[in-house]
Parts: sequence; C-alpha cells; structure tokens
Amino acid sequence: MERLEDKIVLITGAAGSVGAAVAEAVEKAGGTAVTTDIAGRHGVAHVLDVTSEHDWERVIAAVAKDHDRLDGLVNAAGLAVLGSIEDTDYATWKQILAVNLDGTFLGCKYALSLLKRNGGSIVNVSSVAGLIGGHNFAAYNASKGGVRLLSKSVALHGARLDPKVRCNSIHPAFLEGPMVDTILKQTDFPDAARARLTRDIPLGRFGTPAEVADLCVYLLSDESRFVTGAELAIDGGLTAR
Ligand SMILES: NC(=O)c1ccc[n+]([C@@H]2O[C@H](COP(=O)([O-])OP(=O)(O)OC[C@H]3O[C@@H](n4cnc5c(N)ncnc54)[C@H](O)[C@@H]3O)[C@@H](O)[C@H]2O)c1
Repeated sequence: MERLEDKIVLITGAAGSVGAAVAEAVEKAGGTAVTTDIAGRHGVAHVLDVTSEHDWERVIAAVAKDHDRLDGLVNAAGLAVLGSIEDTDYATWKQILAVNLDGTFLGCKYALSLLKRNGGSIVNVSSVAGLIGGHNFAAYNASKGGVRLLSKSVALHGARLDPKVRCNSIHPAFLEGPMVDTILKQTDFPDAARARLTRDIPLGRFGTPAEVADLCVYLLSDESRFVTGAELAIDGGLTAR
C-alpha cells in the first residue's frame, strides 16, 4: 500500500516552490493533490486567496462535491519581507500577518468541517523564523511564531474529536528558490548575505523544497499517527545551537 493511498490533500500556495513540491510528492505517494493558489498563478486546480473566507468556503465546497472527503491540508501559502520594527510600515505588517497567519487560521478553520468526517492531518508551514527571532524580520517572525502556537491549539482541539484530526507545524530554514532570492535582493550585498546564511547552517547548505515535501508526506501519512502539536525543524541544524 502506498503511503498516501486514497488520501485527498488540499495544498495552498501550490504554484510556489514548496507547495508545488508538496503536490508532486503527494501524487508520487499515491494521494490526490488538490492544488490552489491566488489568481494569475498557473498550474493549479482552484483559485484560493487564503485571506478570503469566501474563497475558502467555495473551495471546500468544491472538494466536498468532487471527492466527498478531505484527509490532509498543507498550508504552504506565504509571503516574506525584510524589515525591523522601525522600518516595517503598518500596511506591510498587516499584509504579512494576513497571508501567513490569518490565512493559516482560515485554512484550519474551514478545512476542519471535512477533515473531521474521517480524521486527517494538517501541516502548517511555519519557518525557523517562527522559532527564533531576527532583527530585520519583525512581521515575518510575528506571523510564523503565531502559526507555531495556532497549530498547537488546533492540535489540542483535533485530539478531542472523534475521529481525530492531527496538526503540526514545520519550520524550514532557507530553501533554494525564489523566496530567499527575493529576500537576498533586498540586502545591500546579496552574495555576501547568501554566504553568511549558508555558514549559519551546520549542514553547510540551504534546504530544498523536495526535502520539505518529504516531511509533509510523513506528517500526512499514517506513519505519523502519534505525532500532533509538534514543531518540526527542518533546518540543517540551524536552531540546534
Ligand atoms: N523559501 C524558504 O526559504 C522558506 C523557508 C521557511 C519557510 N518558508 C515558508 O514556506 C512557505 C512556501 O514558501 P515558498 O518558498 O514556496 O515561497 P514561494 O514564494 O515560492 O511560494 C509562495 C506561494 O504562496 C502564494 N501566495 C501568496 N499570497 C497568497 C494568498 N494570499 N493566497 C494564496 N496563496 C498566496 C504565492 O502565489 C506563491 O505561489 C511559505 O509559508 C514560506 O513562508 C519558506
């Protein structure tokens, strides 16, 4: 039997690096990936702006109609921006919190109606920035730290349900892909910044979206049936010291 055989998994931000890698890994493990992203992003099945309650209602209704079940949710949509408390304006703060934290809240809330029918697993993609702070990561730190504890509350609620719904947060360090490239471009010396970030990681390299996707498959599968409310760092050892 394949690891995700017969499992329907909804993925947000699925046109992005991590979301696309998760969708590919879910299908490879025998599951069905229901891919979503904002309008204008190609290659996904549904338009879903994670900050829109209306979009969540519409997409969850479509999943119920098409599959009559939902077994997993991966909240991978996200935005990152550099900025200290002094140079982050309020509009930017609200945008980052809206996508990263409100979007994860809405995803957990609306998907639960289907997940709790047969039991299921939620994976919230936080970041190492949800575990440790950075002087120029005020909004991102706050949003990803919020995802970390929201996930524990959802896990404790899901543990009281019958059948049970599990929920965990995952905390990647820097990954190869456009998000880190965009952040590095906001620094004065991108090449030096990349070298410094690489030196900070004990394993000596950035991670890959495929490695994050492998962790998601584990958390979505029944192999992780006793894992809930956990915060799993996938960071090459960055937060070990
Ligand atoms: N890339 C990294 O180094 C890294 C490290 C740690 C955590 N993360 C987290 O992993 C997740 C995925 O990041 P990624 O590297 O794939 O970034 P990415 O930029 O490649 O993809 C993010 C996706 O989110 C989508 N998105 C943005 N706003 C949205 C909205 N309102 N509604 C729905 N979708 C929206 C974008 O269209 C994009 O497809 C994010 O939550 C990010 O914070 C990334």
